[in-house]
Amino acid sequence: MEKRLALITGGTSGIGFGVAEALAGDCDLALAYAGNHDRANNAAGILQKTGTEVKLFPGKLSGYDDANRLVDDVIGRYGKSPEILINAAGRIKDGFFMQIDFPFHDELVAQHLLVTMALSQLVLKPMYGKRYGRIVNIGSISAFYAKRSQVSYSAAKAGLTGFTRTLAIEVAHRGITVNTVAPGLIRSPMTEGIVRYLESGSGKQIAKHIPSGFIGEPEDVGSLVAFLCSDKARYITGTVIPVDGGRSLGDTGI
Ligand SMILES: NC(=O)c1ccc[n+]([C@@H]2O[C@H](COP(=O)([O-])OP(=O)(O)OC[C@H]3O[C@@H](n4cnc5c(N)ncnc54)[C@H](OP(=O)(O)O)[C@@H]3O)[C@@H](O)[C@H]2O)c1
Repeated sequence: MEKRLALITGGTSGIGFGVAEALAGDCDLALAYAGNHDRANNAAGILQKTGTEVKLFPGKLSGYDDANRLVDDVIGRYGKSPEILINAAGRIKDGFFMQIDFPFHDELVAQHLLVTMALSQLVLKPMYGKRYGRIVNIGSISAFYAKRSQVSYSAAKAGLTGFTRTLAIEVAHRGITVNTVAPGLIRSPMTEGIVRYLESGSGKQIAKHIPSGFIGEPEDVGSLVAFLCSDKARYITGTVIPVDGGRSLGDTGI
């Protein structure tokens, strides 16, 4: 049987790479990234060692035109549209709402929400035809667990919840599922600073914030995403699933 093609934005680093590793073997991979070519080549090298077909797609994604270009490139180089879309690209920039110029908010919402919507719309038509598709968005517990200085980030990630649930209803009858995975703190280049800070203190620092007592790894997210992409998850759609060691549950009391 022909392997399915997974397009993973942000697939060359951190969580996106964790997803790529979990899908490798079962899928061909199209990895989109912003511009860190060394990191991307390194990621592709690791995945290719498993015998997986991997192609890289550099270019900053900030709106519909970028998304359109990316999907055209993927179709051009693979000869088909992806059956699986993982929306993991994006950065976070903390800053108090009142102190930040509006273009900053614009950029974050575009990156995390609008690009996800655009890519989803672009890949859905062929999924309709095949009566199969998987869309998994990488959200964040910041969507429902408020943290100062993350107003636009949390607004964008919360937007993914409405997007996921509503789109899921519209496309379920064509064998297409749409879900969001909401990580808590996961070790990645993006969280290097905070992870170093938490790990440099006593274990109590981590246990105070994360009930499980340890920081999550990209594969903790990857394994769930791979399951959601499998045929076994055909009846799961419209969900937002935290992967956070219990962080968003409440006060640890420590
Ligand atoms: N790590 C966490 O604790 C955590 C928690 C909750 C949610 N998340 C979410 O998980 C996703 C991945 O985060 P991460 O920690 O894995 O980050 P990361 O290690 O910094 O990786 C980000 C990836 O996205 C790419 N990227 C960033 N902005 C892009 C853009 N505008 N266009 C195209 N590609 C872009 C990067 O490409 P380059 O390498 O070329 O720059 C890289 O491949 C993000 O959506 C983040 O909000 C992360």
